[in-house]
Amino acid sequence: MPQVTFRKGEESFTEEVPDNTNLVVRTGIRKFPFPHLRFGCGMGKCGKCACRVLAGAEHLPEPNWKERKVLAERLEQGLRLACQLWLHHDIALTQDGVTPPPPPARP
Ligand code: FES
Repeated sequence: MPQVTFRKGEESFTEEVPDNTNLVVRTGIRKFPFPHLRFGCGMGKCGKCACRVLAGAEHLPEPNWKERKVLAERLEQGLRLACQLWLHHDIALTQDGVTPPPPPARP
């Protein structure tokens, strides 16, 4: 089972989660990393769930098209969208210093 560490300010929260876990789905049902993880749409559109991966990025799949669209060059700074990740390995994340991107322009 993956061990997830979520850092927030001076604090660090760690818990084991079931394999194939999505942290936004868990937070939505008030399980760890609730109440620490900021999120919005849960569908890869708003960018509010953007996290900096502190450890374990090597185990994540390549960013999907939604992450590439929302995060763009910020992918290279180690950001990922938590709502687009299903975890199979240990990972450490933070949202400290990560500002969500502006909402997408309406057509
Ligand atoms: S929650 Fe909106 S992009 Fe992840």
